Amino acid sequence: MFKKSRNKKQSQSNLDQQELDLHNIPKHVAIIMDGNGRWAKQRKLPRIKGHYQGMQTVKKITKEASNLGIEYLTLYAFSTENWTRPENEVKYIMSLPVNFLKTFLPELIEKNVKVETIGFIDDLPQSTVKAINKAKEETKHNTGLKLIFAMNYGGRAEIVDGVKSLYRRLEANELSIDDVDEDVLSSHFMTQPYPDPELLIRTSGEQRISNFLIWQLSYSEFIFNEKLWPDFDSEELLKCLKIYQNRQRRFGGL
Ligand code: FPP
Repeated sequence: MFKKSRNKKQSQSNLDQQELDLHNIPKHVAIIMDGNGRWAKQRKLPRIKGHYQGMQTVKKITKEASNLGIEYLTLYAFSTENWTRPENEVKYIMSLPVNFLKTFLPELIEKNVKVETIGFIDDLPQSTVKAINKAKEETKHNTGLKLIFAMNYGGRAEIVDGVKSLYRRLEANELSIDDVDEDVLSSHFMTQPYPDPELLIRTSGEQRISNFLIWQLSYSEFIFNEKLWPDFDSEELLKCLKIYQNRQRRFGGL
């Protein structure tokens, strides 16, 4: 036991001493922001307070990602399965983009961040859709970090949707069945404009992908960070990037 915890401490201090290689920053980082509820529970607060605090972390991590030169940051904010949560919690999460953009849009614009989304956005409440569309419109010419919110997003639903739109093109004879390969199929996904993430981070110590980018994460590095999302910060992000830089990506080769 002692040896194990000493090793853990040692590798932590190795990481602290390691410099971040600014030439090896992943272009696309995807994050499953987990642990808001537990953060609130630990403090005997209602779960929505955890989500509020989670929104503050989104602001911090967006700024840090932009400073580091990450090109795409995809955040899993609401899944197609999250509708089964209590009504007041769903309602609150739906109000977060409105709050976030009201308080943070000027800073996003100043930092040249472009706001985008993946997911079935049109099925969200009107006020949420309106705030998101306004942010997209006002940042559409920005050329810096692409901040991509996955809202009402599910990997399986995305694939079904993509297959349907591919099928429509086949039916219309715009494509032949022999043209269909991985690139053609994935060009029908919501993530079509983005490269696959090199790195997936999930906070709160849970180790699963929960229907997030199930196609796109095929060759990504996974890092499961122990912090609850509201406690995740720039220091933890840097730690994750250093761990990523110590990994060897082989894509099935040697
Ligand atoms: C998972 O934690 C978190 C969510 C389902 C919501 C995530 C939303 C945010 C972090 C805020 C998003 C901000 C914007 C601007 C859209 P959980 O509730 O499952 O936590 P638990 O596993 O501890 O219960």
